[in-house]
Amino acid sequence: MKPEILQIAPMQASVETALHAAYAVHRWWDAPDRTALLTAIGPSLRAVATDGHFGIPPEVLAAAPALEIVASYGVGYDNIDTAACKARGIRVTNTPDVLNDAVAELALGLMLALCRRIPQADAFTRAGRWPSGSFGLTGELTGAHAGILGLGRIGKEIARRCQAMKMRVSYHGRNEQAYEPYTFYGSLEAMAADVDWLIVIAPGSAATRGLVSRPVLEALGPKGALVNVARGGLIDEPSLIALLVWGGLGGAALDVFADEPRVPPALLTLDNVVVSPHQGSATAKTRDAMGALVIRNLAAHFADEPLPTAVV
Ligand code: NAP
Ligand code: 8YV
Repeated sequence: MKPEILQIAPMQASVETALHAAYAVHRWWDAPDRTALLTAIGPSLRAVATDGHFGIPPEVLAAAPALEIVASYGVGYDNIDTAACKARGIRVTNTPDVLNDAVAELALGLMLALCRRIPQADAFTRAGRWPSGSFGLTGELTGAHAGILGLGRIGKEIARRCQAMKMRVSYHGRNEQAYEPYTFYGSLEAMAADVDWLIVIAPGSAATRGLVSRPVLEALGPKGALVNVARGGLIDEPSLIALLVWGGLGGAALDVFADEPRVPPALLTLDNVVVSPHQGSATAKTRDAMGALVIRNLAAHFADEPLPTAVV
């Protein structure tokens, strides 16, 4: 008998094929009657495969008394109630490290797009406006000062790439990291006041909610730009929008939003904003590696072996 597993959201074909080969897979996202599905399979459910966006719905946790493991496709697990899982002895796994490069690449891509006005230059050229005059001058990353909120696995890859762009790099976190070559700021607001770019890549959690507050954004100021490739909840989004509208903040490059996939319409009207639909890890190569890690964690669990990347 294959173990019963509930897949919360669609994943790429390679992952779904591997899941179906090893488990009796039930699909949550397109079940016509989720209550009926839970009534039928809840008691025998041993695993959940999910992602960072959907996490685990509370009704699934409640209806699955024999649940052993939640394997998530993503490094951030802010949508999984890890405390409740731990209390019930349910293991939780995520997919760290394999996505560091892809997310760091997108962060730099968004920064380049914002300061060199690449989306606008593309639109200008496509519209045939070049023969009538030049596009105009833009900013540049070279020589600018980047402040990273969250010098973790991904933050360190962003820092290296900023150095490759000849930028100065500082960081803020709860702890100074003794052997990192970058300047540490114990105060996020003080760092925001000193840098040209504030790059947010700390986890979403109750502790980080609203960490990039209005005073932090005001400290970043009219010449500063915010980059968020972490979670929308870290930013005071209404203040961000208000400051961008009147010029109190220079610009923003955003891959994540408080209520995604809904993006505040006001952001979409602003010329000093670049947006992306949560694409940080969304390359074919990285998603394959993330999927393979989900499969390895599940396989290790059912083989009674150590979990490769356990959170709980
Ligand atoms: P990580 O290795 O755990 O690094 C997180 C960093 O954040 C650490 O340096 C930590 O430093 C800092 N931090 C944690 N809590 C903090 C707090 N309360 N105040 C200030 N700093 C804090 O995590 P990671 O693997 O780099 O991933 C970071 C996050 O990126 C994920 O949790 C996820 O939300 C997001 N992400 C987004 C995408 C995307 O597609 N856009 C893709 C992957 C990940 P201290 O411990 O010193 O505070
Ligand atoms: C994924 C992410 O897009 O890993 C994370 O924390 O935010 C992204 O890699 C997400 O997990 C899939 O929904």
